Amino acid sequence: LNRFEAARHVLDGTAREPQREQGCAFAPSNIALCKYWGKRNEELNLPVTSSLSISLGDLGAHTTVKPAEKDRLILNGRELAANDKISERAFAFIDLFRTGTALRLEIDSTINIPVAAGVASSAAGFAALTLALDDLFGWNLAPRQLSILARMGSGSAARSITPGFMLWHAGNDEQGMDSYAEPIQETWPTLRIGLVLLCEGEKAIGSREAMKRTRGTSALYQAWPRKVYEDITAVRHAIETRDIDILGRTAESNALAMHATMLDSWPPVLYWQAETIEVLRKVWALREEDLSLYITMDAGPNVKLLFTEADASAVSEAFPNIQIVTPFANGDPD
Ligand code: PMV
Repeated sequence: LNRFEAARHVLDGTAREPQREQGCAFAPSNIALCKYWGKRNEELNLPVTSSLSISLGDLGAHTTVKPAEKDRLILNGRELAANDKISERAFAFIDLFRTGTALRLEIDSTINIPVAAGVASSAAGFAALTLALDDLFGWNLAPRQLSILARMGSGSAARSITPGFMLWHAGNDEQGMDSYAEPIQETWPTLRIGLVLLCEGEKAIGSREAMKRTRGTSALYQAWPRKVYEDITAVRHAIETRDIDILGRTAESNALAMHATMLDSWPPVLYWQAETIEVLRKVWALREEDLSLYITMDAGPNVKLLFTEADASAVSEAFPNIQIVTPFANGDPD
């Protein structure tokens, strides 16, 4: 089954023509506490394992989509060239939802995540685009279906359809109809995410290629599915009991294990910079001083911190260059 057939399966006869002038939506970005690393199906972005994330509150993408004379992508107020990689990916995604090429669309997306934070904007971007298309075409799809569609844009976008803690089920179905994310109902108002602002240049290697290489060449990768399974159980328990030490140490260990499988790949994949290690050592030293402070990292050199409100002032003192996110600022995500 290819992406077009999978999209058709989800939409099952619903409108393919705009039902209103424009569609609008917001989707938050998310950071995985138990990572998605490795695809079992590259065309449909079906993961080898489940993964679990936390959304970044009001950091994310605001997107408007409307019929236009030609396909256009405006990102943070600037139109990208049609042959830009980001435009090509966005247009290939909207191709899944239009028959023929008669319908052209203008996508206007504002992403309010600081570039230097190294938080993937593709998760929020593809989730917001999916929600905006749902609005434009009047699909009224359930979150589960929207998650399946967003996943075909970018895997981690499956977890950005609704806010809060999200569990993306790996699923077994070859068409991916059981591979979607759904909210974990718990909230945690005192939980904080710290984005340490480092400079990020162009990535040496994209996550798609790095995942493929890891899965294909790392002997350690064999241990990864079991590790993620156990970590998800531990993180769920930590969320239920609001235990920052279990949450933090499980998320930190999960992220470091993911990077260990990359180092074990050939040719090796190393996203870390000297500053990355400096931040890690600083966090470990602060932990020695009894701060409940932990890290997580994705496919880049940037470090994200996990802690609670109780340690927030100590953390901002230690990291003046930090943006603190409150995932549950508005209380219940519903
Ligand atoms: O959504 P993608 O294909 O860019 O993959 C993201 C992978 C990680 O950010 C490294 C982990 C995750 O679960 O988000």
